[in-house]
Amino acid sequence: MDNIQIKWWVVADAECAHLKDIVEIEDEVFGEHAMSAKDFKDVLAGFATYGLIAIRNGNVVGYCLYQQGANFTWVLNVVVPTDCRREGIGELLINRVKQKMQTLKSDGLECLVHERWLPAQLFFRSQGFVSSGTLENSHGEDAGIRMVFMKEWN
Ligand SMILES: CC(C)(COP(=O)(O)OP(=O)(O)OC[C@H]1O[C@@H](n2cnc3c(N)ncnc32)[C@H](O)[C@@H]1OP(=O)(O)O)[C@@H](O)C(=O)NCCC(=O)NCCS
Repeated sequence: MDNIQIKWWVVADAECAHLKDIVEIEDEVFGEHAMSAKDFKDVLAGFATYGLIAIRNGNVVGYCLYQQGANFTWVLNVVVPTDCRREGIGELLINRVKQKMQTLKSDGLECLVHERWLPAQLFFRSQGFVSSGTLENSHGEDAGIRMVFMKEWN
């Protein structure tokens, strides 16, 4: 992990060289549900929303977006390209969010994971998250999809 650098991903970097790589990874991982470059820019422009990018040898090997709420910090996504998984990069990103969160005086982390994405649920469990129920998305593209609500207390 020594060779991995975690960089801030801020709005000013929206046009950064890494954005193209990130969109490629996003397409590979999520296909038709992938976020576009514009989606990322819009999210990063949102209130109290932050991003992190993991870089190894100049290449993007992961990224994460999170948003500070009133008490808890929302993990909006954490993504590692398929050929870089199970090397601890996802854990590195979540640990960095936990560090930042302490300075934000947050009570913990929350996330929503598609019910059918078992590997992602196992990943979050391995990072100390517990599921606190499921809910059905009622609007948007994901309407009808059940999501698992997961929390990790500080
Ligand atoms: C979820 C994701 C970010 C994990 O990234 P990663 O870098 O592979 O995770 P790590 O290597 O840090 O894994 C840490 C631990 O999580 C658990 N874990 C991770 N992936 C797992 C899998 N596919 N199956 C079971 N457990 C898994 C393991 O306990 C692992 O530790 P180990 O490798 O020592 O057994 C990655 O699989 C991914 O990008 N998935 C697609 C996008 C996604 O679903 N993101 C989450 C919701 S937005």
